[in-house]
Amino acid sequence: MSITHLGALKANHRLAEAKKMLLEAVSEQQKKLTGIRPSDPEREQYYNNALETLAKYRGAPLWYPYLGSGIGNGALVELMDGSVKYDFIGGIGVHHFGHGHPEIISACVEGAISDLVMQGHLQQNTDSLELIDILVTESKLDHCFLTTSGSMANENALKIAFQKNHPAKRILAFEGCFCGRTLAMSQITEKPMVREGLPVDLDVDYIPFYSPEEPEKSTKRAIETLKKFLWRHPKGYALMIFEMIQGEGGYYPGDTEFFRQIMEVLKNHNIAIVIDEVQTFGRTSKLFAFQHFGLQDLVDMVNIGKLAQVCATLFTDEYNPRPGLLSQTFTSSSAAIHASKTMIHLMIKEGFFGPNGKNMKINEHFTKNFKSIAKRHPNIIRGPYGLGAMVAFTPLDGDSNRIIQFGKNLFQAGVMSFVCGRDPTRARFLPPVGAVRPQDIDSVTKIVEETLLCS
Ligand SMILES: Cc1ncc(COP(=O)(O)O)c(C=O)c1O
Repeated sequence: MSITHLGALKANHRLAEAKKMLLEAVSEQQKKLTGIRPSDPEREQYYNNALETLAKYRGAPLWYPYLGSGIGNGALVELMDGSVKYDFIGGIGVHHFGHGHPEIISACVEGAISDLVMQGHLQQNTDSLELIDILVTESKLDHCFLTTSGSMANENALKIAFQKNHPAKRILAFEGCFCGRTLAMSQITEKPMVREGLPVDLDVDYIPFYSPEEPEKSTKRAIETLKKFLWRHPKGYALMIFEMIQGEGGYYPGDTEFFRQIMEVLKNHNIAIVIDEVQTFGRTSKLFAFQHFGLQDLVDMVNIGKLAQVCATLFTDEYNPRPGLLSQTFTSSSAAIHASKTMIHLMIKEGFFGPNGKNMKINEHFTKNFKSIAKRHPNIIRGPYGLGAMVAFTPLDGDSNRIIQFGKNLFQAGVMSFVCGRDPTRARFLPPVGAVRPQDIDSVTKIVEETLLCS
């Protein structure tokens, strides 16, 4: 086969040299970011003005006064006020290899020399095919449709399920679920705030989620509720959407037996089983959380986003929709497609997975540290909750306003976290597994302890 002009460009020694020089220049600055530091008083006025202007343009202030400079070093990130902070949330969950990882920068350079900034469904390059191939091979599902947000990946799964199971139009979901904020997703997300003032025309019924304190009782409760709905609306349901670990809902992991029993009932009623892995992808002992829970034989569709850098709906041949149902202008940016391939490759190569992989070890490290805080100060912290590289804890009494304030105090002290759940509200980390060092986790937990003591 003859070599393409892109092949010739990639083989050109000047490209390798340029990449080397670029990475050296980045690294030269990165090396100066060695730990957290407070803001520079000389930048205060500029920074406050910039934040105010941004708030004015977007119509509301930012959650945190965060305006990144565009450089970071692993788990550390520099802001335009001159401060350096530990980024343990990655806005939200997209910085799995930290800030400025050389292999990710290198992948983005490959994307940058591509002819297209954004690739689309009418115009995909071979790098799209390579990424899709990885996702299909790893998931063992048959098909993959790329899209531009987690919500859109869920939307596409919804459309596929409705078309296949027409005229069924009801949806099953879990209490406390979060599916995104498009018009359809905000109707499924169990959070009234996200649909305030919106027309509600989807029929969604909620099943109570798993409780680790009452495994059998909560499974029985879920099955009974499910059967009641199925009796009330015969042939009425097109799909059920699952989060394997509830994310925005508060970092509640499910359980294999719990999921399996529900899924078997759904299978008997030909209801599509859709797994929303927008937050869980890449964070458990397996690349996909449905694989961590051993549910490969039961899933029909799986949606990914966030740390994958691209978003996608994966589905079985049985659910392959008729032409015309799915399309959109963009698949993703060329840089994101290259970064995604590299990240998945690195996660597999660098031992993120398996019962003793990096994801599970990180959780163990947090558990040890949080337990030692709880031993010293029994009433200020509970947890951790979550699983693998999803780590949450309940600070203080779990009161929502206090936890939001705690997060803001933690930000000022140099650590970025975010909230999740309701009653109790929790603080959570999505740590950059590919960059974080044990000493970073120790420094962060020390700051958490100090901040808890003065919150
Ligand atoms: C489980 C889950 N599904 C869907 C979404 C929506 O993804 P996006 O914000 O990319 O639309 C999120 C985002 O937080 C999520 O956590």
